[in-house]
Amino acid sequence: MSIIKFLDLGSQPIANGFLTQEEFADEFFFNLSVGLDEETRLVTQMEYVSPDKMFNDSYAYRGSLSQTMRSHFSEATESLAPHLPKSPKVLEIGSNDGVFIKNWETKTTFAVEPCSNFADETNNLGYTTYASFWDTKLSEQIMSEQGCMDLIYAANCMCHIPDLDETFKAVSNLLAPEGLFVFEDPSLVEMLSRNSYDQIYDEHAHIFSVTALNNLLNRNGLKIINVEALSVHGGSNRIWAARSDSPKTFSFDLELYLVQEGMSGVDNLGVLDNFATKVLLSKENLIELLHTFKMEDKKVISYGATSKSTTIFNYCNIDSSLIDCITDTTPEKQGKYSPGTHIRIVAAPLQIDDAVDVAFLGAWNFEKEIKKKEHKFVERGGQFITHVPHVRLV
Ligand code: TYD
Repeated sequence: MSIIKFLDLGSQPIANGFLTQEEFADEFFFNLSVGLDEETRLVTQMEYVSPDKMFNDSYAYRGSLSQTMRSHFSEATESLAPHLPKSPKVLEIGSNDGVFIKNWETKTTFAVEPCSNFADETNNLGYTTYASFWDTKLSEQIMSEQGCMDLIYAANCMCHIPDLDETFKAVSNLLAPEGLFVFEDPSLVEMLSRNSYDQIYDEHAHIFSVTALNNLLNRNGLKIINVEALSVHGGSNRIWAARSDSPKTFSFDLELYLVQEGMSGVDNLGVLDNFATKVLLSKENLIELLHTFKMEDKKVISYGATSKSTTIFNYCNIDSSLIDCITDTTPEKQGKYSPGTHIRIVAAPLQIDDAVDVAFLGAWNFEKEIKKKEHKFVERGGQFITHVPHVRLV
């Protein structure tokens, strides 16, 4: 198997590794570059960071803090339930703080979460949570303790796991004969069209096309029966899969979907090289714009201490000389510093401070929610900037 590299985002830290000043000296860095797997057509990192460096008891990302995500997961529950038996057995892989499972019955819903801070939380809520990484051994343990599952669900988790063959095989072993495996992750087509290269960071071992997923699922006893486009996380796909021998069907034309996706160039090296050129241009333009604000003596902050902004700030060498601080609603991130570039993170006030002139949308995927909340900032002449799909004032 060979992987052809098309993009190098340089030296990067752990994207969610928000840290204290005392931890600066020992910070871990790695080279973040991505390529195309010639065999499966998967866009994947050239070198994976060891999962336990990223997912541990100090993991800071909390899904349930955003209204958008809470609604998203309750809508997901409503759309899944009609396709399942009464009182289904449900397993979520990567359950975070329980934002999805809270919509399901405690007795018949199980969770897998390697970050023990979150596993403790959902165990305390009454959901049996396995504080481990997903693999064959764990799937066998769950099979012997709970039996097979009617639904195995995962949101923004499958793309985190380096070995997809083992992952999918373990899913197919635990799935009931007519069970559903439904998972959602950022979409490669969306990343290419939005130039949102910040979707690439340590945790995102892969950025999925349906083409690559189809190849990987098929060789591990699973088949795609439906694909739903989602607006969350800057454009995601929800994949509905079943066991290869399952009679479950949807009126969904996979062959047509794959042809159309192929036309957008998801596994075409020319298109991927062109994306890399646009990423470089985005970097140059963002640096130039921030230097202009600096010369004009404007106070610039960043809105949302996201993993995505870790990639941008490190790739573009943006530190506290250009961005005064980052605001964020997550208690675990406040009072710490951003990975790599060490910009201080402060609690998000109810409204952006009056002294702020410009706010970079680190959480550009929540643009609507943020603009609604911050209408006073916009009314007094404050400006949001983003790099998606190109560097611009919003
Ligand atoms: P997200 O975009 O999901 O991050 P990632 O790139 O790490 O997947 O997370 C959004 C972050 O922005 C999260 O830390 C919460 C923060 N946030 C705010 O501070 N204010 C807001 O109004 C919103 C919507 C998010």
